[in-house]
Amino acid sequence: MKELDFFKDALEKSLGSRNVNVEPEQLYSPINYILSLGGKRLRPVLTLMTCDFFGGDYKEAMPAAMAVELFHNFSLIHDDIMDEAPLRRGKETVHKKWDINTGILSGDAMLILAYQYFESYEPALFQELAKLFSKTAIEVCEGQQYDVDFETRNDVSIPEYLKMIEYKTAVLVGAAMKMGAIVAKTSKKNKEDIYEFGRNLGIAFQLQDDYLDAFGDPETFGKQVGGDILSNKKTFLFLTALQSGTENDVAELRTFFKSKSENNAQKIEKVKSIFETSGASKATQLEIEKYTDKAFETLENLDLSEDKKEKLRVFAKNLMNRQV
Ligand code: IPE
Ligand code: IPE
Ligand code: MG
Ligand code: MG
Ligand code: MG
Repeated sequence: MKELDFFKDALEKSLGSRNVNVEPEQLYSPINYILSLGGKRLRPVLTLMTCDFFGGDYKEAMPAAMAVELFHNFSLIHDDIMDEAPLRRGKETVHKKWDINTGILSGDAMLILAYQYFESYEPALFQELAKLFSKTAIEVCEGQQYDVDFETRNDVSIPEYLKMIEYKTAVLVGAAMKMGAIVAKTSKKNKEDIYEFGRNLGIAFQLQDDYLDAFGDPETFGKQVGGDILSNKKTFLFLTALQSGTENDVAELRTFFKSKSENNAQKIEKVKSIFETSGASKATQLEIEKYTDKAFETLENLDLSEDKKEKLRVFAKNLMNRQV
């Protein structure tokens, strides 16, 4: 059984030896730029590792892993436009470094490059992988639309929020793992169970992302801390603060979240302090644990050896304790 670093190195090598198009420069430079900024490479590593765990050859899962990472990076370029985010992985976002139109078209091209990676699979595998990929991609779009719709709604419920993060983030984590399982040609049940594991892990992952967006260390986080607060995002932190905050807290949150302001350090500080005092911050930590535990429960059913299950548990735990 191979180690995590092994899969990450293999993925980086594959990214490094990609056929890089150079012209038109304005189309391809942003693609090479965002891919060169690194990132955790969480999803493609999961694709490779899952394939290996189910007895497949990880190398055969590489095109699927590349497709997943290209798709993820495409979604980040467009997400940063939608979220008006200035920073990504510690560097300027694509639309800030270039402009919005460049971000749109480079993102589109990346999505197509992602699909092209499936062309190397034989017809049956191609069909199964492409079908899952398309279903996932459309769900990500739905999740992203809900996320934006929620910015201007003041009646978002926690179940609605959970559905939104399941779509914008968790389904891709599930699909990344399932693709590894598909390439390994494991049983239908294993494919379904590993998807469930990834989906629950993905929900915990997005809850943690929301937490770090408010409470991450600006020195290391790599994104603008407080960006979600400035955009009036209806996160778990915000929604639980509305439920458990004092009358005063609730009134203040409602006022702050009525309008959007580009750089309002006071809004960020005040809202964060309400997140803390209302217990929302603690509740978010507990919710992260809840979804991590749900993922662990799914693991029990899987037809995998105990040492492999343990690796997945360690992986999940590290993810939940991350600072980036
Ligand atoms: C960021 O994903 C977008 C979310 C779904 C939260 P990651 O946190 O995996 O970003 P990178 O790839 O490591 O930069
Ligand atoms: C992004 O969610 C999900 C997708 C990119 C599809 P966020 O907007 O929270 O991601 P970050 O925080 O910008 O990475
Ligand atoms: Mg964003
Ligand atoms: Mg977003
Ligand atoms: Mg975020």
